[in-house]
Amino acid sequence: MIISASTDYRAAAQRKLPPFLFHYLDGGAYAEHTLKRNVADLAEVALRQRVLRDMSELSLETRLFNETLAMPVALAPVGLAGMYARRGEVQAARAAAAKGIPFTLSTVSVCPIEEVAPAIDRPMWFQLYVLKDRGFMKNALERAKAAGVTTLVFTVDMPVPGARYRDAHSGMSGPNAPLRRFLQAMTHPSWAWDVGLHGRPHDLGNISAYRGNRTGLADYIGWLGANFDPSISWQDLEWIREFWDGPMVIKGILDPQDARDAVSFGADGIVVSNHGGRQLDGVLSSARALPAIADAVKGELAILADSGIRTGLDVVRMLALGADSVLLGRAYIYALATAGGAGVSNLLELIEKEMRVAMVLTGAKSIGEISADSLARELNHTAP
Ligand SMILES: Cc1cc2nc3c(=O)[nH]c(=O)nc-3n(C[C@H](O)[C@H](O)[C@H](O)COP(=O)(O)O)c2cc1C
Repeated sequence: MIISASTDYRAAAQRKLPPFLFHYLDGGAYAEHTLKRNVADLAEVALRQRVLRDMSELSLETRLFNETLAMPVALAPVGLAGMYARRGEVQAARAAAAKGIPFTLSTVSVCPIEEVAPAIDRPMWFQLYVLKDRGFMKNALERAKAAGVTTLVFTVDMPVPGARYRDAHSGMSGPNAPLRRFLQAMTHPSWAWDVGLHGRPHDLGNISAYRGNRTGLADYIGWLGANFDPSISWQDLEWIREFWDGPMVIKGILDPQDARDAVSFGADGIVVSNHGGRQLDGVLSSARALPAIADAVKGELAILADSGIRTGLDVVRMLALGADSVLLGRAYIYALATAGGAGVSNLLELIEKEMRVAMVLTGAKSIGEISADSLARELNHTAP
């Protein structure tokens, strides 16, 4: 039974998934120090308990990029989500829309834009990587526009792929990877039935649509590795700004100066993120990086944050540290892997309940009332 959003879905996902997929999801770069710090630093954030303030009326609603969100949470772009449940992106997007929050489709999703956008009754967000093949980027932007995508999330912390050693050990890559993946699938029959057999085609839908041929899982790492572009700079983003007239969010900011550059560039938002500890191990956790970034740019653009958020309490902590809204990454994929769209819906209910408890006990009646003032100054090294 799922009681705690933070640990139960992770354990259930580990039981259900072939190890190569679980470790691809769960793992991070190098020795995974940043991955662990993301969770540990957030858990260390002490909130200020307040009592006897008539907290019978709470509002979790918030406005972001001209949209109303039922709570300040969106689903992060996660590549290959369709390998975690049958047509996983569609299932997760439906759960998010039913809850009244945005879903962000990854560039490297299994289901293409054209399969996900029409399946939901609210505008989708789309994430784009900076890739060498600018023809692909332009094509993806045109297709996103045509499908009614509102908000573009531009991920900038992957000019090179981070080294994730777990993948080589687990069979995601490394010697005999295809054979190992096949054997693992055979010993995880409920996944093999749901996704292996009925979740096809297993390819990168957005890339296949552009290249006109199927890009299987085996090609995935090769194609991505060859296409990341280390030459990227702010000037390269200008044509996208001109091409995309909707809100544009820069994802992967961890430094106040980069946040200021995002303001100068004219971004509508940033995501304070270290990619869930999957890129450069040893960089600051998002919880640690966020207060200085909020000091530098709060109010000038929307500040979103991710990396390490597992519970509704974590959401409130990120807001208290300076975020306007958050993205959920692994938290929702663990739930998707466990129970498909129903799992994601249940997770979002748990997140909301946990947020309500935290808001009542910190005396915040609305999202706008969660601030640095909600932090217990005595304990927080991060508090002002
Ligand atoms: C398996 C996996 C795949 C991811 N794929 C993408 C992606 O395609 N594009 C992207 O911008 N971020 C991607 N991310 C990063 C997430 O958007 C998000 O920043 C990260 O998961 C936040 O950390 P958390 O999982 O600890 O919450 C991925 C993360 C994971 C775990």
